[in-house]
Amino acid sequence: MKGVVLAGGLGTRLGPMTGVVNKHVLDLFDEPMIHFPVRTLAKAGVTDLVVVVGRHGDQVRTLLGDGSALGVSIAYAHQEGEGGIADALARARDQVGDGPVCVILGDQVYQDDLSPYVEAFRERPTGARILLKQVEDARRFGVATVDGDRVTAIEEKPPRPRSDLAVTGCYMYDARVFDIVSGLEPSARGELEITDVNNAYIASGEMAFDVLPGWWADAGTHASKLKASILVALTRGVTFHA
Ligand code: G1P
Repeated sequence: MKGVVLAGGLGTRLGPMTGVVNKHVLDLFDEPMIHFPVRTLAKAGVTDLVVVVGRHGDQVRTLLGDGSALGVSIAYAHQEGEGGIADALARARDQVGDGPVCVILGDQVYQDDLSPYVEAFRERPTGARILLKQVEDARRFGVATVDGDRVTAIEEKPPRPRSDLAVTGCYMYDARVFDIVSGLEPSARGELEITDVNNAYIASGEMAFDVLPGWWADAGTHASKLKASILVALTRGVTFHA
């Protein structure tokens, strides 16, 4: 199964640095942000990657090169502007081809080894599979409503979340995902939303999910980036003194 790492967009919420630096090469504790999702995929055995880059994308290419330093093989695709996560995924269509795909956002840090979940999808690679995490601030995320072993709906950044289950930024899809993206209309914020892709799979009854036990962080805002850095430092045994 191929992997797609989405590192497009403008990174506006991490300004002013992102005016001159690609968000995904910024540091989380002692490493560039994008190393984390790349290693998460590699650990799960997804090593044939397409990295979709946007503004200052040459910095990501310089950093990761052909991927060999991280044990993966990388091809690049380009996202012009900020058309949303689903639009970025569409840019990888030609390189992904006809097989299933494991997509991860370039700002995600998972404590868990995702191998068991990726393996479950590999065994039966039809429909889609998402990874959920209980959070305290669900309004910042896509929020899933679950009934038994079914996801019944996902709402993108709802003002009044119906659950505390955030949709984390790693998604597994069968090859139909690209046709689904082609049929999407831009949302109110003018983007092709990954939540609309996921709701299409939910509507056809083909969405599986897991709830992650370990911590998870996205590094898309200054506060969440700082939190992610601290979590990374703590896992490396760093102690902080007042
Ligand atoms: C994106 C998705 C959202 C998801 C989040 C995870 O939001 O749209 O559904 O929960 O990533 O980090 P963004 O942070 O890009 O606004």
